[in-house]
Amino acid sequence: MSDISEKRVVVITGSGGGIGCATAYRFSKAGYEVVLLDMDLEAAEKTASKIGVGDDHCFQTDVSSQNSIRETIESVLLKFGQIDALVNAAGIPGKSARFENYPVEVAEKVLCVNIMGTLMMMQAVLPSMQKRGEGSIVNFGSVSGHRGYPYESAYGASKAAVIELTKTAANENGCNGVRINSVSPGWVDTNMMKQTINGYKDVGCECTYDNVRLGPMKRPADPREIADVVFFLCSKEASYINGSDIVIDGGKITE
Ligand SMILES: NC(=O)c1ccc[n+]([C@@H]2O[C@H](COP(=O)([O-])OP(=O)(O)OC[C@H]3O[C@@H](n4cnc5c(N)ncnc54)[C@H](O)[C@@H]3O)[C@@H](O)[C@H]2O)c1
Repeated sequence: MSDISEKRVVVITGSGGGIGCATAYRFSKAGYEVVLLDMDLEAAEKTASKIGVGDDHCFQTDVSSQNSIRETIESVLLKFGQIDALVNAAGIPGKSARFENYPVEVAEKVLCVNIMGTLMMMQAVLPSMQKRGEGSIVNFGSVSGHRGYPYESAYGASKAAVIELTKTAANENGCNGVRINSVSPGWVDTNMMKQTINGYKDVGCECTYDNVRLGPMKRPADPREIADVVFFLCSKEASYINGSDIVIDGGKITE
């Protein structure tokens, strides 16, 4: 049975992660029907229970697989009728390693999930937005995609590519009511931050939460501070923002 309702619908990938969960909460608070995608179904279901929706809002989806994406988007459109907003938060950091030692198979995986995952999700959702003449997509870059941070060559390259994919897609749309933007956070206090800091040990860096380079605000972002910007970009208040990358790093990039 279809649950098609009057509510606006947001689809969030990586919804079981720190930023995805906070984003789900932000949209849900604003009355959206929130659809939760993650490769880790249990994590998506935890988010569902936090925002008070049933597990029928969760879809186990691997964004590095076109088949998995196609199946999910078909089911979402059938069940919810439309997609007003897409947030591509799924991502992986890869490994910390010097450029010349970076394992090629890890680099391939990072590029596949972060770049191809974002590209294929956009390809799957764009046609329905174009048909309705409205929609907003927010992708995840990173400050790492703006500057060459050491030991994360694959991650940085993947995020620079996401920022660029966003601009190209925004250029091809915009005139049809569909806006596409990206956000580039600095450190955000999630599992990915912990994983990255732990990974620094592999290259002999004794980094901790306290001595990692945080920028002038001297703290990582709370995931909710990223979710607020993502929500704004999908709102009508952002109706003239298209093809932008919003850096949300407390000033780290300029320090
Ligand atoms: N945390 C940070 O410091 C930081 C900084 C800049 C950018 N970002 C970006 O923000 C986004 C969210 O990161 P986070 O901090 O919430 O990370 P997180 O590790 O908490 O969550 C990532 C989520 O993505 C899911 N995922 C991973 N691979 C997937 C796949 N192939 N298909 C579907 N889901 C998959 C994971 O299961 C997890 O639930 C990512 O794109 C990340 O690169 C994070």
